[in-house]
Amino acid sequence: MSTQQADNITMSEGGLYSLATKGAKDVIDIATPRVLDALGAINFSADPGGFMMADMGCADGGTSLEMIRSVLSKLQQLAPGLDATVVYADQPANDFNALVNIVHGRTAFDSWIEEFENAWPLFSGSSFYLQAVPDNTLDLVFSATAMHWLSKKPCNITDHVHMVGASGEELEQFATQAREDWETILMCRARELKSGSRMVLVNFCRDDSGRYLGNTGGINMFDTFNEIWREFIELGRVTIEEYHNMTLPQYYHNIEEFCAPLNDPKSNCYQAGLRLDNIETRVVPCPFAQQFKADGDVTAFADGLIPTVRSWNQSIFAAGLDMDRPQSERNQIIEDYYTSYHQRVLQDPEGHGMDYVHAYMTISKN
Ligand SMILES: C[S@@+](CC[C@H](N)C(=O)[O-])C[C@H]1O[C@@H](n2cnc3c(N)ncnc32)[C@H](O)[C@@H]1O
Repeated sequence: MSTQQADNITMSEGGLYSLATKGAKDVIDIATPRVLDALGAINFSADPGGFMMADMGCADGGTSLEMIRSVLSKLQQLAPGLDATVVYADQPANDFNALVNIVHGRTAFDSWIEEFENAWPLFSGSSFYLQAVPDNTLDLVFSATAMHWLSKKPCNITDHVHMVGASGEELEQFATQAREDWETILMCRARELKSGSRMVLVNFCRDDSGRYLGNTGGINMFDTFNEIWREFIELGRVTIEEYHNMTLPQYYHNIEEFCAPLNDPKSNCYQAGLRLDNIETRVVPCPFAQQFKADGDVTAFADGLIPTVRSWNQSIFAAGLDMDRPQSERNQIIEDYYTSYHQRVLQDPEGHGMDYVHAYMTISKN
């Protein structure tokens, strides 16, 4: 059984991430009233020194521009003239060029940068498994659709590519890794957050009805990933070992798992002052499947869905391929894989899609 640091996680580059993932922006837009409520609960007169927020796991920053604009607007009303710093943080392999260009208004994305005289973006390559800023400096932490990426892959899964299809000892190893990682994330934030501050985390989850990303009643998207790779094994296109190495280093917590360290008075997180204010789960429909229902355009559906899927799993699947294969061969396998998925959708579109299933939580620091 091989383990692997989760350092192959990269979204599509050059701003393509935000262009391909309309659904992720919908998720952030839905979270925005919750973020504004959290902001409204902060007592700025207690610490007039300046406001600092962080968007952790921000990718190219395109999907959160509007949310951050809303935060800065409301901040002006709540504490006129207060200096604001927005820390955009992601792991070092992220496309920081795209992020900087998008936030600085050098692309077609509508950035907030010109609209606020006293708001400054800063960019950090710190993983959310590390402390990114000094103790007691953050007023507001936001993160969307990012913390399902584990700090490392605890093991490969023998008969699936994702923990949602794992069982027994392998699932147990993923659950243990995820529990430790969740505590690490929370403890880093507990140090960074000021007393009285808030955190809004929007994370993929398995909800109380057993739904999760791409599995809300139609075709299970992760089973489709798996089936196509198994076809590739049968066709001799990839080896079993390569397939095993494609195990995605992700975990989708259920609600109990998210709440456990925040509600247990004996836990490190609770003792560090973190409290769960509230949590709810929501399903945000796949925008491409919705459009297909409305217009029946199957080509547009397949052309939209496959890039959004590809934007987050291609780097992991590609890294599973044997490095002894020439780069051109590896590229061809990946192209053929997504072409095969595209054809499945074209041939029988009904039930495909990637509905988002998230836990939205607000956490305060005492
Ligand atoms: C699906 S994107 C979400 C981007 C954006 N927050 C959104 O909701 O549209 C996931 C992001 O998490 C980042 N990520 C994964 N592991 C990370 C880590 N350990 N620390 C910081 N960011 C991480 C990835 O690089 C990627 O940019």
